[in-house]
Amino acid sequence: MDITDVIQHQHNEQRRMFAALEEWPRDDHEGLAAVWKRLAILLETHAEAEERYFYPELLRLGTGGADAESVEEEVEDAVHDHNEIRAAVRRVDEAETGSDEWWTAVVDANVHNSDHMGEEERQDLADFRQQATLELRHEIAVSFLRYESLKAATGIPSVDKDPDEYIDEHRTDAPSETAQRAAQLAKDSATTDRAGDGPSLTASEDAD
Ligand SMILES: [Fe+2]
Ligand SMILES: [Fe+2]
Repeated sequence: MDITDVIQHQHNEQRRMFAALEEWPRDDHEGLAAVWKRLAILLETHAEAEERYFYPELLRLGTGGADAESVEEEVEDAVHDHNEIRAAVRRVDEAETGSDEWWTAVVDANVHNSDHMGEEERQDLADFRQQATLELRHEIAVSFLRYESLKAATGIPSVDKDPDEYIDEHRTDAPSETAQRAAQLAKDSATTDRAGDGPSLTASEDAD
């Protein structure tokens, strides 16, 4: 697995779900609310998982991708954008499903999210692909998907973060636990052909 692919894939899923809302029957409020709820959980858990597992490693290793001035600017921008997305999601949640106010807030959420994803892909993911090992990208993907899966059914509280405080809190040259696991994985894979412990996964005889 690779965290840059996981993030890119989930961005595509977010684009697809906004597109589904655009052509959903306008009078099916139950369906609109259900599709939105699923999208809102994805938007919020995706942003939180990035802030927990991806951005701290980017801050440590990044050098500023594409048109970014520096890695600090990349991370500050990302947290700022996540706050804007969280605010738009809250506005949708507070409006009556299917009302004009609700649709405006959905479109605003799409605008903020699209702007953010474009920048994140062009700068942050590109930067990380150039600076991080495949083992680290794998380890972050596992932590990221684990967190999202644990929260997928219920969602998470919407809590904004101060971008400057976030950077101060996470700025360090010391390798994180994730980075240490990745380094161990790289060492292990130099001495074995297999990626992990445990037997190979096989189907039952009934599966044929
Ligand atoms: Fe993202
Ligand atoms: Fe993001």
